[in-house]
Amino acid sequence: MSAALLEKIQTLKKQRNAVILAHNYQPGEIQDIADFTGDSLGLSVQAAQTDAEVIVFCGVLFMAETAAILSPHKTVLLPDKHAGCPMADMINARQLRELKDQHPEALVVCYVNSTAKVKALSDYCCTSGNALELVSSLPAEREIIFVPDKNLGGFIIDQTGRDMILWPGYCSTHMRILAADVLTVREEHPNARVLAHPECSPDVRAIADELLSTGGMLKFVKTTDVSEFIIATENGIIHSLQNQNPDKRFYPATEKAMCPNMKKISLEKVAWALEDMQYQITVPEPICSDARQSLDRMLQVIPE
Ligand code: 13P
Ligand code: SF4
Repeated sequence: MSAALLEKIQTLKKQRNAVILAHNYQPGEIQDIADFTGDSLGLSVQAAQTDAEVIVFCGVLFMAETAAILSPHKTVLLPDKHAGCPMADMINARQLRELKDQHPEALVVCYVNSTAKVKALSDYCCTSGNALELVSSLPAEREIIFVPDKNLGGFIIDQTGRDMILWPGYCSTHMRILAADVLTVREEHPNARVLAHPECSPDVRAIADELLSTGGMLKFVKTTDVSEFIIATENGIIHSLQNQNPDKRFYPATEKAMCPNMKKISLEKVAWALEDMQYQITVPEPICSDARQSLDRMLQVIPE
């Protein structure tokens, strides 16, 4: 890593009055230069609150779009315009409209991993960090449509006992983590606790000790006496876990849990983003205002 490049980023950041936000799945060197790292919920809160004029979003498109919706007067930059989320693209506005027509009385909850158009058609947005609280707060007699992640949706159903209509979307990175992988690593490290993300398959969720968002994992590890962990989520989070807990040990459930889109961001691209003010992410009206309503309702539900 070049010191000159790091200095260039710091200088440009000051010149542009910019803040760098990075998701917990970002490459380690990006997490290290970020002003704030976090899960989708934490990053949404930061995006809504920052005083900076420019937000460099080191993550994927739906996250930058969320920042643009919450801060419409700021410039939001995504350093690689091709960093998308395949799960977010598994349902589009037409498909959601058709589903709503089939269930006209249902409330629509969308995972934040969704397009701005899908958020605009939803009543509530949620992240893996507040999904349980959010769904639990909805009136018991109302039908709920949950899109696009069938695994996060299945986790909410298991935990709350609330039935929901699920869209069959999924995260291909989390689906690469197999229960057999977790069991193999557990045999090698029998004292380790298995921390899995709710985007994992039902088989992995069934053998996990804790099901947590990435932010939830960071909090849990800090406060428990346990010292070894098997991590069943995108492996980028191990960088923060290890930095924040140097005396504890972390084992990835599989080396295959690598999100190719999250890894498209590099230090060079962050520098170029600040230099050329690219790639600007904007959300047109009325989609922006409609989507903001579902995000505002979500931001009122922050887990304990
Ligand atoms: P969280 O960091 O909110 O748990 O999100 C996981 C994810 O897959 C983001 O793309
Ligand atoms: Fe999307 Fe999965 Fe990558 Fe998250 S880890 S950005 S859900 S593909």
